[in-house]
Amino acid sequence: MSEITLDLRGVEKSRAYAELDGHVRAVLDGVDDPITAMATVSCLVHHAFGHLWTGFYRVVAPRLLRVGPYQGTLGCLEIPFGKGVCGTAAAEERVVIVADVSAFPGHISCDGRSRSEIVLPVKDQKGALVGVFDVDSDRVGTFDESDETGLMRILAWFAGR
Ligand code: SME
Repeated sequence: MSEITLDLRGVEKSRAYAELDGHVRAVLDGVDDPITAMATVSCLVHHAFGHLWTGFYRVVAPRLLRVGPYQGTLGCLEIPFGKGVCGTAAAEERVVIVADVSAFPGHISCDGRSRSEIVLPVKDQKGALVGVFDVDSDRVGTFDESDETGLMRILAWFAGR
């Protein structure tokens, strides 16, 4: 029953995230592989909302992010800490919501259709930063605090497994 890809477009966000979180937990039940979890979370979040680009950048060296599992068009392969929205979220270990990417100095454009995005830090069981989760939309102002809350709950898998 868990082996389906939910389409939650049109469902009110907090309800959509509650359903999606339960679904992700069910699919990942018994899984102890963070790359498998990254691929699964990318797929399910991407298709649930019909986003433009959804995926992970992993910390692979001090102050360097490298692309991990994702859905969407080709993402840039590496992003130094402090560069773009992903690098800012990693350097400051905080959630960054950008309502209009054209107003974010240094935004890295991998897909010219991207108009807004949210990037969240991902931590492991020890509280160490292991990467960031980046979601891009082709519409301005897609993301708000309800996306932050809903996505943080899903990403808690990486700290709690
Ligand atoms: N927009 C991001 C770069 C990554 S991609 O769009 C896939 C940024 O500015 O960090």
